Amino acid sequence: MAFKIGLLGLGTVGAGTAEILLNPAQRHPLLQELEIHRVGVRSLDKPRAVSLPADRLTTDLESIVTDPQIDIVVEVMGGLEPARSLMLKAIAQGKHVVTANKAAIARFGAEIFTAANQAGVYVLLEAAVAGGIPVIEPLKQSLCANRIHTLIGIINGTTNYILTRMQAEGSSFDDVLADAQQLGYAEADPTADVDGLDAADKIAILASLAFGKRINLEEVHCEGIRQITAADITYAERLGFVIKLLATAKRDGDSAFPDRLQVRVHPTLVPKTHPLTNVNGVYNAVLIEGDPVGQVMFYGPGAGSGPTASAVVADILNIAAILKVGRGSAVHADGRPLLDPLLACSHQDYAAIAPIDDLTTRFYARVLTQDFPGVIGRLGTTFGNHEVSLESVVQIGLREHQAEIVVITHCVKEGNFRKALEEIRSFDAVSNVPSVLRVLSGGFGDLA
Ligand code: NAP
Ligand code: HSE
Repeated sequence: MAFKIGLLGLGTVGAGTAEILLNPAQRHPLLQELEIHRVGVRSLDKPRAVSLPADRLTTDLESIVTDPQIDIVVEVMGGLEPARSLMLKAIAQGKHVVTANKAAIARFGAEIFTAANQAGVYVLLEAAVAGGIPVIEPLKQSLCANRIHTLIGIINGTTNYILTRMQAEGSSFDDVLADAQQLGYAEADPTADVDGLDAADKIAILASLAFGKRINLEEVHCEGIRQITAADITYAERLGFVIKLLATAKRDGDSAFPDRLQVRVHPTLVPKTHPLTNVNGVYNAVLIEGDPVGQVMFYGPGAGSGPTASAVVADILNIAAILKVGRGSAVHADGRPLLDPLLACSHQDYAAIAPIDDLTTRFYARVLTQDFPGVIGRLGTTFGNHEVSLESVVQIGLREHQAEIVVITHCVKEGNFRKALEEIRSFDAVSNVPSVLRVLSGGFGDLA
């Protein structure tokens, strides 16, 4: 018996998926039981990277999700709509869904998984986070005996590529972004990547799985990398750090709010001794710290046709395996199909997320001031007045006839640091504070 696949999209990920499905030799034997039944696209005239009979392609995507012959709908078209409606329609028709769409899942996950549980179907999304790296299934299955404390990663390839090149070449953000667009790594509209929104979608999904709660995306603090300059990269380097866009989800540790989580995305100074420092280019990595496993690191290609398709097809095979052994036919007392609790998502409650002002972390700030006597002393006093203890203050040189002062703090409360900075910005002698970045403490997975 062949399982019939309806593919929504035949772009980068869709073509990679079709390529694997059409070439099962030397891969898992169950692949031979999968058949691409229909493929939905926007244009029938476009040249395709993969060869399929013309009559399999259609622009009528609704006809795919309602086709009674199709068992599994694979949504690799992207975007919010019509992807959301099509997934919901497929679920309502009793079809299992595999998706790579982190944007849709991070926003509509609650609606989609509630519908899937009602219908007794699976919605699997390994490809939605970190492309080819298996991290969703390990969180659901291999690590499920653990109490997860911290999850921290580089989960956007475009920004990691840009920062890696800025670091290696001393180039500016704008120059490297233009190159990344030309090479096809960055989208024509790079907003979702460079402003951290893509990483925010992904960390919301990972946090939900790691901590067993729904995450309200609007509460995920998100900063991108547009403000990072070659000067910051150089100072970071001299101080023993590299700058990375980190996505973090961890238990807050505030005894007044025992269940509260921190979920955030921001550029961070990472000590050169930390394992994430060596994750370069479009590669991704995710560190997970749990009890009792300790620390585990996942590393690999975070995007691209083949790696992402590898994750998509693994999900398809997981569902096909369940259908093949008839596990999909077990039912609840009320007749609803019974789902494998390690594969399905049944979170009900929303996590409490700590406001960013409550974060305790180290900071790096670059301040441009007039080169007057006493300026450094005033900065120190102002930070001190707001309970911000300084680890180092260095005046490295002059930039545009201004003294450039770089401050690193000890671990301080973000709200206190911001208040001190607001006061400092108002000094006559201070012309600008071009960069404020957080500094990773150094421990594996530790952003204290
Ligand atoms: P893509 O190359 O732009 O392909 C999108 C495909 O969907 C195209 O075949 C397009 O048809 C079709 N499509 C889009 N909107 C449609 C509509 N309204 N009606 C009919 N067909 C439509 O995108 P992609 O890079 O493969 O990404 C797909 C999904 O995977 C996204 O959710 C993305 O975030 C996710 N993802 C991508 C990567 C990656 O490396 N690219 C990695 C991880 C996850 P035409 O070909 O006719 O235009
Ligand atoms: N735009 C994403 C990235 C693609 O750069 O990581 C993979 O999700």
